[in-house]
Amino acid sequence: MWDKLRAHHEAVGDRRFETMLDAARAEDFSVQVGDLLFDYSKTNIDAEGRALLIELLDAAGVAARRDAMFEGEKINETEGRAVLHTALRNLDGGPVTVDGIDVMPGVLSTLDRMATFAEDVRAGRFAGAGGKITDVINIGIGGSDLGPKMATIALAPYHDGPRCHFVSNVDPADIAGVLRGCDPETTLVIVASKTFTTIETMTNARTAKAWMGEPVADPAAQFAALSTAADKTEAFGIDGTRVFGFEDWVGGRYSMWGPIGLSLMIAVGPEAFRAFLRGGQAMDRHFRAAPWAENMPALLALVGIWHNQVCGHSSRAVLPYDNRLSRLPAYLQQLEMESNGKGVSMDGADLTVNSGPIVWGEPGTNGQHAFYQLIHQGTRVVPCEFLVAATGPEEDLHHQHQLLVANCLAQSEALMKGRDLAEATGKVADKFEGAELERQARHRVFPGNRPSTTLAYPALTPEMLGMIIALYEQRVFVEGVVLGINSYDQWGVELGKELATALQPVVEGREEPAGKDGSTAGLVAYLRKNGL
Ligand code: F6P
Repeated sequence: MWDKLRAHHEAVGDRRFETMLDAARAEDFSVQVGDLLFDYSKTNIDAEGRALLIELLDAAGVAARRDAMFEGEKINETEGRAVLHTALRNLDGGPVTVDGIDVMPGVLSTLDRMATFAEDVRAGRFAGAGGKITDVINIGIGGSDLGPKMATIALAPYHDGPRCHFVSNVDPADIAGVLRGCDPETTLVIVASKTFTTIETMTNARTAKAWMGEPVADPAAQFAALSTAADKTEAFGIDGTRVFGFEDWVGGRYSMWGPIGLSLMIAVGPEAFRAFLRGGQAMDRHFRAAPWAENMPALLALVGIWHNQVCGHSSRAVLPYDNRLSRLPAYLQQLEMESNGKGVSMDGADLTVNSGPIVWGEPGTNGQHAFYQLIHQGTRVVPCEFLVAATGPEEDLHHQHQLLVANCLAQSEALMKGRDLAEATGKVADKFEGAELERQARHRVFPGNRPSTTLAYPALTPEMLGMIIALYEQRVFVEGVVLGINSYDQWGVELGKELATALQPVVEGREEPAGKDGSTAGLVAYLRKNGL
């Protein structure tokens, strides 16, 4: 299949896709789910290319794997686990079994417990030593931080609960900055950690407990825990009534739909949180039912595969023209790169194509004044993914929103059209002449023919955010199955953790850096000489 796709890519070469882009193509190469529109017409994929890409799905058995995932089979083979974050948003979807046991009663009762606790915090029925909770601090890292933080920022217009803060980094600058702005007597600390062993999170949790323990007699009473490890939350001193558990079939980077979303739920309220879940469930239903040619997660995955594994453009920019999605690129970095950044396939063989893409980005229009230079004129092609809403909640500033949208559409148009030498020459013909005119004009040439896709939606509601996040999750799933890799483990983070633990006594000066390489030993010596 890869050979056929490569041959097709060679045959279409550098054809300018702009020449194909009439209204019929725009319609044919767009798909809509509910109110969410995905336009992939500004790419060099044609009907034949799409058909070949879809053959990849069939060759890899994506449909059977998808059904196995939803049905609770242990598709995370290296850890022997099911992959069932979809059950967390399966609000009214019937039973889901793992090892013959229906997990839905547990999922729904935990959701109800979370809602009761969130309402108690929001209404002041659950209070701190000094009264009603004014601030919530979520302490977690990776999937126990990025999702809820991204979504809490995204849904700021729905935020009517206490202030929410997120502490992730073991760098004391992170927690010190947040604690400085909070009153320990009216703060709730949520320790979010699937394993309850992550060193950054547990270190910050102990720091927060000591801070709260200064004025508060029973600091643990103002702590809640989100974890799969009930024994460890108990050992930390957190009462079981404030522990919200989940099972090992929820991967860290897929966990914001359940207990890890508690801070978001406290911020926006259980009703908005359920709307977020409903959006995710709607995308799952679409993913399970729609034929591949109309299946949004599958098409999003195939466009990425075309650009990365077929054309060789290994980086992807995510560019939300929606400032509240400012943390979406960071969230997607973990989702994509921790899931599909792997060099061996499920059976242990080396991958023969690129692994998942390097994902990065910033909201527009900020990025335009920073890195878009490279995207437009650099020597590498960076496929871009734009996101844009028709409206924002700032109704009195709608003219600014219109300017934002104009910029978004202009960027994908500019990437596609570019500017040739003749046009560039015309731009400066009144200022230069001869060889200098050509030299100056060449700096103003844009190659164009650079691909982009656009996700457009009426407004960033909780439901729409749920659809978008589930869309990206299922895209990563499809990409992983096509590449033949396990998207649900993350062995690549282990080595650094082990070495950091081994280095701790060395940086503390309790042990000599014996056996360390010259660079590491030299850096330790330099830092210790300078106050470490
Ligand atoms: O180190 C990577 C990782 O395991 C991520 O996969 C995970 O999201 C993060 O650490 C945090 O893990 P935990 O929720 O167990 O603290």
